Amino acid sequence: MPETIGQGGIEHDARSADRFVPPAPFPKPGERASLWQGLKTFSSQIEGLPAEVFEGDAWRPPVPGMPLFVMAPDAVRRVLLSEADAFPQGDLFARIMRPVWGDGLLLAQGAAWRAQRHAAAHAFRAAEMPALAPFFVTAADAAILRWRNSPDGRVDLFEEMKRVAFDVILDAMLSGAEHFDRDAFKRDISLFFADVNRMRLSYFLRADAYHARRPQRTSAHKAGLMAAIAALVEARRTAPPRGDLVDLLLAARDPETGEGFSDAQLCDNLLGFIMAGHETTAVALTWALYLVARHEPTRTRLRAEVNAVTGGADVGPDHIPNLVFTRQVVSEAMRLYPPAFLLTRISARDTELCGHPVKAGQRVNIPVYALHRRADTWHDPHAFDPDRFAPSAPAPDRFRYLPFGAGPRICIGAAFAMAEIVTVLATIVRAVEIDPPADETVWPQTGLALHPRHGMPVRVTPR
Ligand code: HEM
Repeated sequence: MPETIGQGGIEHDARSADRFVPPAPFPKPGERASLWQGLKTFSSQIEGLPAEVFEGDAWRPPVPGMPLFVMAPDAVRRVLLSEADAFPQGDLFARIMRPVWGDGLLLAQGAAWRAQRHAAAHAFRAAEMPALAPFFVTAADAAILRWRNSPDGRVDLFEEMKRVAFDVILDAMLSGAEHFDRDAFKRDISLFFADVNRMRLSYFLRADAYHARRPQRTSAHKAGLMAAIAALVEARRTAPPRGDLVDLLLAARDPETGEGFSDAQLCDNLLGFIMAGHETTAVALTWALYLVARHEPTRTRLRAEVNAVTGGADVGPDHIPNLVFTRQVVSEAMRLYPPAFLLTRISARDTELCGHPVKAGQRVNIPVYALHRRADTWHDPHAFDPDRFAPSAPAPDRFRYLPFGAGPRICIGAAFAMAEIVTVLATIVRAVEIDPPADETVWPQTGLALHPRHGMPVRVTPR
């Protein structure tokens, strides 16, 4: 039998030397909710989730006014897909996100949302994404070069992946960005994100009065960013195409109405895409690299695949669809450490879910982190096993694997993110050896995305 150390600690299993249970919190089977456990969710929203959430259909903490957690696939389907209009993201969410998204896609509703969504979906369609491979390779190569020049090879992989994701954004999304000051843009983005993160906390604590004071400050940081993006969009309307995402968005039309984005919508959406795609992609890459560094059999297979598919050349557009095992590794990393660890909605009317009454205005949570670790869906759920996603393996229930959400609000950047993560992972794993930190120092922490609590300090050596 596996030996379990502490709450959801590291398991060592004498049966298989290859079995690896990466560090993460999860309850012991049958371990019921307790007040002590519940208090832990204040420090991290995945900490202290009781066994009810990993095993049951729905669960409401025994404290008045708390959200209902829904886990049954049918209930998740209703909330995210079939009754999505009855479960919006809510007014408070809109007020927090308005400074980022303005009138962009995330907050648009009804016909305005549909038109923007259709146009953007056209730009983000999966078949177009591999063509962006050179942008991804350039950002990964820049990181590898930085590491080669580092005297002792010690780097924080999380910081490095944020930088890679940011370089990709500047190059693949805003490739005219050489006209503006990258460092100033980066600094403004960080300040702006920090503000938005504080507002996210106010959202969960429901401190409306506190929140109501925030937008002015946020908009002060936003002004410089928007001016830079607006100048870029104006220049790009008349410049020759560069083959980046701005070109795709400029050319995008709602297939039904033929309408494209206005300049204002384009600017709002570009800032929104930076916000939605930057940290999520960086954490997914960080966790994937950690798991590969920690698991030798996976590393060996991954390298063999990359060499066989690319023949030693840079990862190119034609290679991405053939990096099948690499993609499996990414899917498994996002199962164990889903960047968007919780989806949340507000019920627009009185209803019921899994037999629990839900009043209009009540919050409904979909605990993606726990859904990805259910023993009724996943064999040996806390162990790292990319073969769960092998083409020959049975596909999990659609509503039990939700790294990119589901329904009308499903992540529009999913294909972009997958192409980026697969390319960067393949490029880095082939080029360097990564010495991972001790398991005891690795732990997931909730924030804007599920990130490593202590960063990811590693030692990198060229191969
Ligand atoms: C690994 C990386 C990423 C993950 C895990 C992720 C995850 C998600 C999830 C779970 C949602 C749905 C949220 C909900 O239903 O409440 C979402 C929505 C969204 N994502 Fe992503 N995302 C990633 C990368 C990106 C990128 C790279 C972009 C843009 C370039 C992007 C743009 C968006 C947008 C615009 C929405 C809102 C769509 C709408 O409301 O119509 N995401 N993302």
